[in-house]
Amino acid sequence: MARSLRVASEYIAKVKSAYNVKGYFTQESLAIAVGLSLATIKNFLSGKPVDSGNFVKICGKLGLDAEAIAYKEPETQPPQPNSNITLEETSPFITGSPITHPRHFFGRQRELRRLFDLLKRYPLQNAAIIGKRRIGKTSLLHYLKNITTTPPEKLRSGQKYDWLPQPENYQWIFVDFQDRRMAGKDRLLGYILECLNFKVPNPCSLEYFMDEVSDNLHNPTVILLDEIGVGLQRCPELDDEFWESLRSLATNHTRGNLAFVLATHESPIELARNTGHSSPFFNIFGYTATLGALTEAEARELIASSPIAFPEEDVEWILHQSKRLPLLLQILCRERLFSLEEGETNNNWQEEGLRQMQPFADLLRACL
Ligand SMILES: Nc1ncnc2c1ncn2[C@@H]1O[C@H](COP(=O)(O)OP(=O)(O)OP(=O)(O)O)[C@@H](O)[C@H]1O
Ligand SMILES: [Mg+2]
Repeated sequence: MARSLRVASEYIAKVKSAYNVKGYFTQESLAIAVGLSLATIKNFLSGKPVDSGNFVKICGKLGLDAEAIAYKEPETQPPQPNSNITLEETSPFITGSPITHPRHFFGRQRELRRLFDLLKRYPLQNAAIIGKRRIGKTSLLHYLKNITTTPPEKLRSGQKYDWLPQPENYQWIFVDFQDRRMAGKDRLLGYILECLNFKVPNPCSLEYFMDEVSDNLHNPTVILLDEIGVGLQRCPELDDEFWESLRSLATNHTRGNLAFVLATHESPIELARNTGHSSPFFNIFGYTATLGALTEAEARELIASSPIAFPEEDVEWILHQSKRLPLLLQILCRERLFSLEEGETNNNWQEEGLRQMQPFADLLRACL
């Protein structure tokens, strides 16, 4: 279970009526009955995140099904075909799709320290993650969003998760501009409001969005903008007025509670220039992390995560051929693991690994 849970917006009315029906006529009396603070009760009743143990406790008192009324994150990746599959049964090496579960994510410790440093104090500050195709931008956005609230038992041993003082207070919104639905202004603004658990009118105007967020955003909130270049190139509705409003919201109207982290192939200012945008939104990214190879220690940790240990000379070969680029490390580890599982005793896996790396030769060249 997640470390914090909140009531889904469609259940808030039901929760409020259950609380009256059960004879708790004030929030104080409910707080006393469950032995929790008034602030926790207020957060629960207004759909804000509360500790999952407290969430279950309050639901128990009110006779509500905690599982059914809890807000569920919209999936950004297709769900596992069989939800009974445990992590141990999932593929140890993932090659292609972004890493969404923190357990499969390695390295980037320096970038993470810098990014969380910007997000752990007021005002939250904006950052841009820059990197070539397939270098790991989307995986890093997912990691930021998930690592601080993933229960430690679902992480690798020693994996750091206590990056933020009160992670349960944070709200994370992932926007993928490759998703066509995000190309329309109404739909995008509606999606952000929905994630924040605010009312969503239809249509949702920019003015309404600005009022709603500036009046009601009281928790630290990070909006992750993936593939923003696509948003700028292909979504004419997302014009300079739109981006300027977002900038004004983050800088002047949310009391330091709102930050953007974007992922892109080139610097935000270049990106804006190359796509004919002049909005000052693209000047607010005071920190940029440029992704490249993992450090040697990080790359070795990824290789050592194989369920069957690799001989030392193979580890050296993989480090050398992959140039410590995460996707290439994953491909070579996958091939080596497969050959060990099949009981092969020759070096054909190396030939196959190099062949599988071929489509990503550009990545190798760009990072040399
Ligand atoms: N930190 C990481 N730990 C382990 N593997 C990683 C990591 N980052 C990236 N990878 C590997 O690289 C692949 C590509 O990652 P990702 O999709 O995040 O890159 P991207 O930069 O967003 O690519 P694109 O530019 O195509 O959107 C993943 O499938 C995975 O194999
Ligand atoms: Mg990506």
